[in-house]
Amino acid sequence: MEKRRIIVDCDPGVDDAIALAYAAANQDKFQILGITAVSGNQSIEKVTRNALNVAEYFGLDVPVARGMEGPIVKEPLSAGEIHGENGLGQCEFPEAAGAVLEEHAVLFLYRTLKELPKGKKVTMIATGPLTNIAMLLKLFPKAKEKILEIIFMGGAVMGGNVTPSAEFNIYADPEAASIVFQSGIPLVMCGLDATLKCTLKRNQVMKLCQSGNPAAKICGDMAGFVLENTSAKYRGEVSIHDVVPWMYLLHPEIFTAKRTILSVECADGPARGTTICDLRWWDHDEEGLTSAVLLDADQEKFQEYLITALYELGETMKGKYKE
Ligand code: BDR
Ligand code: CA
Repeated sequence: MEKRRIIVDCDPGVDDAIALAYAAANQDKFQILGITAVSGNQSIEKVTRNALNVAEYFGLDVPVARGMEGPIVKEPLSAGEIHGENGLGQCEFPEAAGAVLEEHAVLFLYRTLKELPKGKKVTMIATGPLTNIAMLLKLFPKAKEKILEIIFMGGAVMGGNVTPSAEFNIYADPEAASIVFQSGIPLVMCGLDATLKCTLKRNQVMKLCQSGNPAAKICGDMAGFVLENTSAKYRGEVSIHDVVPWMYLLHPEIFTAKRTILSVECADGPARGTTICDLRWWDHDEEGLTSAVLLDADQEKFQEYLITALYELGETMKGKYKE
């Protein structure tokens, strides 16, 4: 069977980096066409470099392109207090031998979609603000015909993390989210309702850190940084949000999903960046809806699948790098 073609848009970011590890562990199941970086958790310089170093370290041999250096309308946010000054929980990855593409990420997306074999489409996995994808859709509206679906980490039904109702990726660029939501492309929103369940517990993180396995250890170190330096320490567990879109691709059965219509508040004020999921089944024909929101997740299965994948990835890396 033909493998699903995927492009990753991300802002590494501790959990983006762990998501790249999870993707690398499963790369035989997909055809990953490239990684585009977008400003979000850190500056565009840092997240682009991080994407390149992390991908190469975990054995993802794909092009990496630098994207938008800030949101469409407002100034960039960053999340250094969560992800550290370097964006990777102060963990050091070896400098990649490869280079970032000269081509801008938005143009890379356009070209890659244009060059697809006839009738083929791409799945986008987005784990940062939706700025690059929105720019693509604005500049090249026909590009949407080549996108099968966008599975993104962002948004929330029950409550936010940056404000009482807004989640970081959407709050960072609500105008971009609005463009994507209105595009008609099928969407899967992996928001906080599911991702706050998708955690690693303190003892699991400690075991990863103490393992001699290179992938497990560096992912444990990164997750440990977030766990010890944020409010996650009071919970005793840390959400690995950005793994969820990948996990949903491979194990949809561990999530509760509901079909919905997505929109987002862009007005200035307390609700800016809040996602609105219309779940009024009596108001529309659910069967006709092409987008969905994840509302719950099986925490134990998530932990089992993620931890197993990290150890398996590390086995393939042993001997390649000094421990
Ligand atoms: C999201 O925001 C970022 O800090 C994480 O990388 C994740 O994509 C969680 O709200
Ligand atoms: Ca992210």
